[in-house]
Amino acid sequence: MTNNTHWYHHKVNKQERSLQIGQKPCLIWFTGLSGAGKSTVAGALEVKLFEMGYRTYLLDGDNVRQGLNQDLGFSDQDRVENIRRIGEVSKLFVDGGLITISAFISPFRSERAMVRELLEEDEFIEVYVSTSLEVCEERDPKGLYKKARAGEIPNFTGIGSAYEAPENPELSLDTANMDVDQCVEAILDLMKHRRMLFRKAD
Ligand code: ADX
Repeated sequence: MTNNTHWYHHKVNKQERSLQIGQKPCLIWFTGLSGAGKSTVAGALEVKLFEMGYRTYLLDGDNVRQGLNQDLGFSDQDRVENIRRIGEVSKLFVDGGLITISAFISPFRSERAMVRELLEEDEFIEVYVSTSLEVCEERDPKGLYKKARAGEIPNFTGIGSAYEAPENPELSLDTANMDVDQCVEAILDLMKHRRMLFRKAD
């Protein structure tokens, strides 16, 4: 307690919400360069889980920056704040009983570690979409690498701003070598192995 607030333990808690929904909530956190395939794989994973009957929510960098985080830019300080907020929001969604999927460049190890710390060990998977800078730049789906090389985006990740690759992610996926379905299968396999996927009816 640093600001005269006290945590209020409300009657309906994570366990009860999860039991009512009939699933184990968790956070699947995607990190990687812009254009690596985070949003594509995260979106396909959500579709698959949704079709299997799970309750999900997908948080995505480009979308969240148009609403909750529209006041933030791409300085190191703003990226730290971006990930801090998303970490807290992800935790709330997990508390709400949902399988939560977050796809953000999240370039710094310290903030990713901070997010990991917010969750229980059996609730968190870090997926490193390890597609190389060369491949991302070649794809350049939004034309941003071209602009960055032309000096129009001074702090673009991988060019003018650092990306610190994860040291021990639960999973690494290179979308230059794996198609979207293979990536989704790899994540589902890991989720099953970690006993994150079961339903009340199963
Ligand atoms: S993060 O670094 O703070 O985690 P986030 O995932 O929210 O980034 O947003 C990344 C998206 O913002 C990119 O996919 C890209 O479309 C856009 N973007 C705009 N400017 C930059 C920049 N300087 N560096 C990286 N991405 C940028």
